[in-house]
Amino acid sequence: MYVCVCRAVTESEVHDCIAGGARTARQVRDATGAGGDCASCVRKICAILKRSEDLVTSA
Ligand code: FES
Repeated sequence: MYVCVCRAVTESEVHDCIAGGARTARQVRDATGAGGDCASCVRKICAILKRSEDLVTSA
């Protein structure tokens, strides 16, 4: 499923990026390009970041 339609970035690509150390929407954008166009996906990227943070902190 695409998170960023403009740049054709999938949710799994964002997860890979987070696994690779990205902690902010800006880092995800720099690594994948997601959010670099219309920015309507930034909110979704933030939600994914938040969810992965919750997983880490609850582990
Ligand atoms: S949907 Fe990601 S920049 Fe437009």
